[in-house]
Amino acid sequence: MPLISWNDTLSVNIWEFDEHHKKIINLLNGLYDAISAKKGSTIVEPVIVELIDYTRYHFAAEEKLMNKYSFPGVSGHEHEHKELIAKVVDFQEQFKAGKAKIDFSLLNFLKTWLTKHIMGTDKKYSSFLKEKGIR
Ligand SMILES: [Fe+2]
Ligand SMILES: [Fe+2]
Repeated sequence: MPLISWNDTLSVNIWEFDEHHKKIINLLNGLYDAISAKKGSTIVEPVIVELIDYTRYHFAAEEKLMNKYSFPGVSGHEHEHKELIAKVVDFQEQFKAGKAKIDFSLLNFLKTWLTKHIMGTDKKYSSFLKEKGIR
């Protein structure tokens, strides 16, 4: 069983961003598999790096589109993105220094954050961007 399975309740009705979210979910599931199989940090660390890089890319894409059309909720949304990245980067540094372990509590935190963010915060731009002709 994967950590998160994609389903329609996670759709924001914007094709590009649904694809991004699916990719992030795949990366999280990959991390979950690596940890379940007790893979060492040489395997786990590149997965974390890829997850952070891709998440940054996705956040920037959402922010660019929201800013382009002056979506009213953009600053609160950007703030949530920034907080998550800061937390994960902080964790990554602790991990590199040998002061933190990547475990299921981290994965559960990421799973909860992501699903809540998509269903609560991301969905708020759906109808606004749809009206601007984004599909
Ligand atoms: Fe977002
Ligand atoms: Fe998103």
